[in-house]
Amino acid sequence: MDATALFKFSSGLYVVSARAGEDVGACVINTGLQLTAEPLQVEVVVNKQNYTEGVIERAGHFALVPITQEADMPYIGRFGFRTSANFDKFGGIETRETILGDPYTPACAACVVACEVVQTLDVGTHMIFVGEVKDAEVLSDAEPLTYAYYHSTLKGKTPPKASSYVAV
Ligand SMILES: Cc1cc2nc3c(=O)[nH]c(=O)nc-3n(C[C@H](O)[C@H](O)[C@H](O)COP(=O)(O)O)c2cc1C
Repeated sequence: MDATALFKFSSGLYVVSARAGEDVGACVINTGLQLTAEPLQVEVVVNKQNYTEGVIERAGHFALVPITQEADMPYIGRFGFRTSANFDKFGGIETRETILGDPYTPACAACVVACEVVQTLDVGTHMIFVGEVKDAEVLSDAEPLTYAYYHSTLKGKTPPKASSYVAV
């Protein structure tokens, strides 16, 4: 079997974030997806070893932001290659809060949706969180960043904790 065949799948890149008390987690994912229109639901797939996974579980809500093409590799590195366990990902950048209390940055953000977790599914290495959208706001007209653009133009790599990681 050639697992790299799945590189042909299309997706965007997102930052999912949450706050549970003083605890904040945020990470890049390529697994944000709208599930239904009524009720408005989305899902995110988060590795159990990512700090953000536990924060979403404890918070019971999350913010989801599609990243725009304005993002550069330092931006991706901040959210996608470092861990909230020992690094304040919102330190030194403009940060806002959703109505559910989750932090996000409007920088390189096409929109923001505030979600309450209504279902979780354990899929082994990752948890799927289904979120009902409680608030949504368009933040920019800039093009959302696709995973293909990330690979072809930014020459970005996929770290082992991403759902789509294939050791080649
Ligand atoms: C392009 C890209 C795609 C990623 N996709 C996912 C994903 O879908 N799910 C996931 O759990 N982690 C994904 N990651 C990995 C996390 O962003 C990364 O492990 C991050 O450092 C976790 O941060 P945290 O420990 O603060 O949660 C991806 C990273 C990159 C750069």
